[in-house]
Amino acid sequence: MTKIDDCTLILFGASGNLSRIKLIPGLFRLDTLDRLPEKMKILSVGRSPLEESAWRDDIKSMLDIKFKKNYDTKVFERFIARNFYQANPPSDENAFKKLSDRLSNKSTFPQNLAFFLSVRPSDFALIVDQLASVGLTEESKSWRRVVIEKPFGTNLETAQALQKSITKHLKETQIYRIDHYLGKSALQNILLTRFVNHIFDPLWTHEHIDHIQITNNETLGVGERTQFYDATGALRDMIQSHLMQMLALTTMEMPKTLSPENIRAEKIKALESIIPIPLNELHKHAFKAQYGRGKINGEEVKGYLEELKNPKSVVETYAALKFYINTPRWKGVPMYIRTAKRLHASDTAIAIKFKKAPLSLTEQADNWLVISIQPKEFTRFEIETKIQGLDTKVRTVAMDAPNRIKNDESIDAYESLLLNLMQGDQSLYLHINEVEASWRLLDPVIKAWIDDKSPVFTYEAGSSDPVESKVIFDNPEQFWRQSIEIGENKL
Ligand code: BG6
Repeated sequence: MTKIDDCTLILFGASGNLSRIKLIPGLFRLDTLDRLPEKMKILSVGRSPLEESAWRDDIKSMLDIKFKKNYDTKVFERFIARNFYQANPPSDENAFKKLSDRLSNKSTFPQNLAFFLSVRPSDFALIVDQLASVGLTEESKSWRRVVIEKPFGTNLETAQALQKSITKHLKETQIYRIDHYLGKSALQNILLTRFVNHIFDPLWTHEHIDHIQITNNETLGVGERTQFYDATGALRDMIQSHLMQMLALTTMEMPKTLSPENIRAEKIKALESIIPIPLNELHKHAFKAQYGRGKINGEEVKGYLEELKNPKSVVETYAALKFYINTPRWKGVPMYIRTAKRLHASDTAIAIKFKKAPLSLTEQADNWLVISIQPKEFTRFEIETKIQGLDTKVRTVAMDAPNRIKNDESIDAYESLLLNLMQGDQSLYLHINEVEASWRLLDPVIKAWIDDKSPVFTYEAGSSDPVESKVIFDNPEQFWRQSIEIGENKL
């Protein structure tokens, strides 16, 4: 277990949803697991003035909801004593000076400081400027780290501008850019499965792999985030970050060691070797659609435009892309990436289809390796075996390896991320080169889609992938793979 320095976590946007649902309960869980350093403190920062006791009562209510009042009271007492509140009203010019004065009380607050910015993206640069102006980013005596929530920019240009602004005050080792998917144990498992089992690497090439599918489908719609979503769309919301990271983990070369630096270096190379989508063939590489009315789990749900109350929006809630990678390993292998809101099932997975064996029977199915991320965490290998009896016939059987077994710890992505932040381990955080590489690939597609005002395809909420999305497949035998069904639901 890596030793963690005593530190203070300063939580900006502490009364927001992320903090209430994930961060504060996540810190409490880490305390329950004895993973927080003894003297660690949490200073929550909000816009409104609030008594410390009222904030602590509020924390209690967050934990009551999250853990259904089922937690250890001794740990609770310890946890609540770590928590403090600081009002930081935007109207107060001296707010950051007051914050710095408060933090300078060494007997209460350990001087290693991690600032978690769970705020509007437009405030990231401003807050870093203000922290720097009162000396809080200065590292001569103790470490200072800043966590920036997603999204890091809304395109390459704004990502670079944000980077330029925060690096006036921070070194790369101080910047922790979040992609919460990297905190998921099932995503970390991709690397381990690939590299600690010698059997996989030799198969992981264009000689053996027909194509790869990276999928994230949700039954959820955009909910109350209509305005945000309409300015964002599926490409920016899911593909630029989470799915491109899944693609990088699936296709990167073996790192020299599993150290954070080596893993990040290989991921950067993987993203930088993806070939940009040719805009003159966009329709063969990219497909978008929007959900209409339909039924999810038997319940009627509204269409996107009804939720948005703007009949003109052509923003995508379904996006599918095809990429190729310019390395000897991946020569000519299509990488299909898709994400959707309001599909018939929630399913996040990596599905790898192998080429046909040199000796194969006519009715034989393909071999697939599926690494399922959620809702279930398992790895499935499908192979053909003989059907008992007199004839030479085969059928598909699945070898399922659960990644979670009874009594395994269940760790939320944010718990891993918070722990790594305190440990100073950046492997689960994004390097600026990864962020830039991803925007560089997606910006032209986003722009082309924004400029294209022709009517967008719709799919019924609760249905499977729109049939029209097949347009991006390289050959007619390819189909969207559903992770949990064997060879069914071919589209
Ligand atoms: C977020 C997106 O980053 O990830 C959401 O903004 C999406 O639109 C969510 O629903 C999915 O995360 P998870 O962990 O529930 O798969």
